Amino acid sequence: MGEAVLRLRAGRLVAFPTETVYGLGADARNGDAVARIFTAKGRPATNPLIAHVHGISGARALTTDWTAPAEALARSFWPGPLTLVVKKRDDISALVTAGGATVGVRVPGHPVALELLARAGGMFAVAAPSANRSEEVSPTTAQHVADSLGPFCDDLLILDGGPCEIGLESTVVDVSSSPGRLLRPGMITAEQLGAALGEPVSIGAAVGDEPARSPGQMTRHYAPHTPVEIVPRNGGEIAEAPEAGMIRYTPGESARKHVIFMPQDAAAYAARLYAVLRELDTAGVPRIVIEEPPHEAGWEAIHDRLRRAAAPKSEGKTK
Ligand code: TXA
Ligand code: MG
Repeated sequence: MGEAVLRLRAGRLVAFPTETVYGLGADARNGDAVARIFTAKGRPATNPLIAHVHGISGARALTTDWTAPAEALARSFWPGPLTLVVKKRDDISALVTAGGATVGVRVPGHPVALELLARAGGMFAVAAPSANRSEEVSPTTAQHVADSLGPFCDDLLILDGGPCEIGLESTVVDVSSSPGRLLRPGMITAEQLGAALGEPVSIGAAVGDEPARSPGQMTRHYAPHTPVEIVPRNGGEIAEAPEAGMIRYTPGESARKHVIFMPQDAAAYAARLYAVLRELDTAGVPRIVIEEPPHEAGWEAIHDRLRRAAAPKSEGKTK
């Protein structure tokens, strides 16, 4: 941990666990360090980074306008899997915010991340996207980070905090204008946000927003290299795909090699999903067939990520 803090202070990169996915961190005040994140990830400079801070006071220090909705959501869900998009202060690097007028900020709910942020100096934010190559499935273990970034980053320290408990990226909500706007679904749902705010949030980017301002909207994101297909539960497609890797929701058993049975509960399913996608992606199967899980409350973020994993490559970065 001591070495990680020294590295951050020296402008180097540190991958660290959060409760959602592993992050690739750099000192948010240091433009060269932040630029190294974009290079390591192969990330377009148009996609802004989340600034991670130790507590609400750290978040307030990044914005000119800490609003009542921001305060209400921060109090309800931090530390936790929620990113608030707020108006940024002028001195925040344009690299972090992709030149925009807002900054995404989050207090992660993981002891290793919180210790790193506390020891990094309390008020200095750590800019961190997920610690994977751009558009790949996010890492939920230290090994995933090494697999993804190892070949592209020869100077990376990875803090190992074990598997991430939540396993999907944070909910991103824009509270820089009213009403709040859900930009990326996560395990904190729109209903929970609305309940904490006392009014519903709107869903998706505003009309006229540049797509790059809310890249969570890119269709193909969080995707394995192997083609992914989503099929109805217990449908004929399941028996007809003997060569495929398969992610089943319906409980059962299979003698086949690349069949994985998923938990019935949304939280447990989410926690396992990215590891399973990575496992099948490296198994050499020609495609991955996913049996559609239920369309019930609490499963929205899972469906969002499954849709993105299955989006054809040619759709690229368009909506
Ligand atoms: O759970 C998470 O959020 C993880 C952990 C490491 O904290 N981080 C993460 O970062 O998923 P990243 O960079 O992979 O995804 C951040 C998302 C992107 O869709 C980005 O476009 C959006 O948040 N975002 C960041 N700043 C924004 C801003 N100022 N306005 C709109 N969207 C923003
Ligand atoms: Mg990411």
